[in-house]
Amino acid sequence: MRGLREVYARTSVGFHYPAGMSSSFRALVTGGAGFIGCNLARHLLSGGHTVRVVDNLSTGFRTNLDEIADEIEFREGDLRDPATCARATTGIDVVFHVAALPSVPRSLVDPIACHENNVTATINLLQAARESGVRRIVYSASSSAYGDTPTLPKVESMEPLPRSPYAAAKLAGELYTLAYARAGLIEGVALRYFNVFGPRQDPNGPYAAVVPALFSAAMRGVPMGIYGDGLQTRDFTYVDNVIHANMLAATQPAERATGWMVNVGAGTRTSLLDLVRLVSQVTGREIELLHRPPRAGDVRDSLASLERAKAVLGYEPPVSLPEGITRLWSWLQEHPEALSAPGAGSVAPR
Ligand SMILES: NC(=O)c1ccc[n+]([C@@H]2O[C@H](COP(=O)([O-])OP(=O)(O)OC[C@H]3O[C@@H](n4cnc5c(N)ncnc54)[C@H](O)[C@@H]3O)[C@@H](O)[C@H]2O)c1
Repeated sequence: MRGLREVYARTSVGFHYPAGMSSSFRALVTGGAGFIGCNLARHLLSGGHTVRVVDNLSTGFRTNLDEIADEIEFREGDLRDPATCARATTGIDVVFHVAALPSVPRSLVDPIACHENNVTATINLLQAARESGVRRIVYSASSSAYGDTPTLPKVESMEPLPRSPYAAAKLAGELYTLAYARAGLIEGVALRYFNVFGPRQDPNGPYAAVVPALFSAAMRGVPMGIYGDGLQTRDFTYVDNVIHANMLAATQPAERATGWMVNVGAGTRTSLLDLVRLVSQVTGREIELLHRPPRAGDVRDSLASLERAKAVLGYEPPVSLPEGITRLWSWLQEHPEALSAPGAGSVAPR
């Protein structure tokens, strides 16, 4: 299996550490107990960086950090609290702002909580980072900002048309981050992720993402509920691609990267039914589907244009969907406990 280090060695752009930043930096990963954050924290450690995590454990788990607990500084705290943000950003070079209250349907149930955790928390963090002298912030944005326009692929210059409080809140956080960057208050890059999947993604609960829920259904031999006809398409993106983009966003020269929002996907779109077939093929198990009515806030099709990501960051997705599904299956076989309980499966752009 090809490691990310080799991938970095291969990229035409490679890493350019900003002036004044040594090749290892002090990183804050907000939401580091969650799916993407804990994978990013592991990767940063393996690159010799110092890692602090702040997380309120609302949707993340301490156990996601068990294997690296002795190597990171973990702070349980809530970014809605400005004092927590001030303490978390002290002595930090780069903030990876991964924390959020995710999920489109959750935001329709409780839009105020969505706003507080995704927007108020972000501006608190930006202000604290600025006052603490943090060099750069890399914001985890979301493809849900594009909404349900028929135009594919989604290009960054398109008008954003959010269809849920979650999509609006993620877009607001992105706009604040880039406004701070363009105002010269802090360097900032926003990465719009397209449906991410990989190890340590929670398969449980009503807001579970579709890939871990599919593996859970395959392993337990139970039917999988899917919303709509299954012909909706997504740019399913293996988490190593997202980590690769974060590392590039943290290290490209400011004059090249700061102030930009870029898509991060795998650059191919796959229907939910084709995804089910792929998981069946890789696991060797049939998956029975239970069709449910389409859900409010869901969009029909999604695909990332990666042209800007390539131009601004030198990003090209290192891992394809079939390779990502195969890697996840290998990981799950080593960690069967990761799929221990039922999941429902959402295919909403996240
Ligand atoms: N997973 C995807 O497909 C996807 C797609 C697009 C964008 N994103 C974005 O990527 C980021 C990570 O998503 P994820 O899938 O890993 O979600 P996750 O729920 O696994 O992780 C989010 C983490 O943030 C923490 N958190 C939430 N509110 C907080 C607060 N107020 N203070 C401190 N910590 C808080 C949670 O406890 C959790 O550990 C989010 O910003 C999300 O919007 C994810």
